[in-house]
Amino acid sequence: MKFSKVTIAIIAAAAIFTVGCATANKTVSEESLGLRKTDLYTESNTTGDKTKYSDKPAGTSTKIERAFENAPPMIPHSVEGMLPITINNNQCTACHEPAIAQSMGATPIPKSHFTDFRPETSLAKNGKIVKEGKIVENTSDLKTVSKELHTLSGSRFNCSQCHAPQSEGNLVPKNEFQAEFRSKGLNEKSNLIDTINEGVK
Ligand code: HEC
Ligand code: HEC
Repeated sequence: MKFSKVTIAIIAAAAIFTVGCATANKTVSEESLGLRKTDLYTESNTTGDKTKYSDKPAGTSTKIERAFENAPPMIPHSVEGMLPITINNNQCTACHEPAIAQSMGATPIPKSHFTDFRPETSLAKNGKIVKEGKIVENTSDLKTVSKELHTLSGSRFNCSQCHAPQSEGNLVPKNEFQAEFRSKGLNEKSNLIDTINEGVK
């Protein structure tokens, strides 16, 4: 038997209509709408997950895989008593300083943190901006500069500005994100110092 295009369209429309009606008949009570399973009209029985950072002391925790290439790794261990970081008290460097790190079983602070990426900037007499000795019209018009330092760059001193501990909670909805890395092993180490100029002309 052959159907014309019109007949097929009518049958399809009827099928969609039937399915549509069946779904429309299903009711969902307002109280149970939403991801949480408590009454939406009151907060009295609703409590959020507690923030729960790792309480494992440094040296006993398990490293967390990087979420993307060259992401600042999350801190897997307890940071109790280490924060806030102050000019006279930066305990992070005591274990993560490259010279010491290996003996502590800690990841050494990478080369990028011992590099100055900030161009030397000054103002010329005529009011123009000078970067790295050159007058620039557009201040973002400059190739990345990298100057190797012998000490930790000042811009990397406050570790917790970029590295944060991870709280464990029940995720609703589930996180389906899957990290993809361009080369092997980048889920557990970084290579920013080698790739910093990628995409820069
Ligand atoms: C007592 C030594 C010690 C101190 C102090 C310390 N860490 Fe660690 N850190 C470690 C060790 C060891 C590991 C590896 C995981 C483990 O064994 O617990 C680690 C892991 C890490 C990681 C994960 C590295 C990776 O490759 O995934 C980060 C990030 C980190 N620490 C940041 C910090 C920051 C920021 C501070 C200061 C607030 C700090 N650490 C203080 C020893 C230390
Ligand atoms: C301005 C943000 C920033 C600050 C501040 C900072 N980091 Fe990082 N860190 C990063 C980023 C981004 C990466 C990954 C890319 C790279 O290697 O630079 C990283 C990587 C790391 C790694 C992993 C290295 C590897 O080989 O996998 C360690 C360990 C680390 N940082 C420790 C520290 C410590 C300790 C401090 C404080 C003394 C600190 N960082 C301060 C952004 C920061």
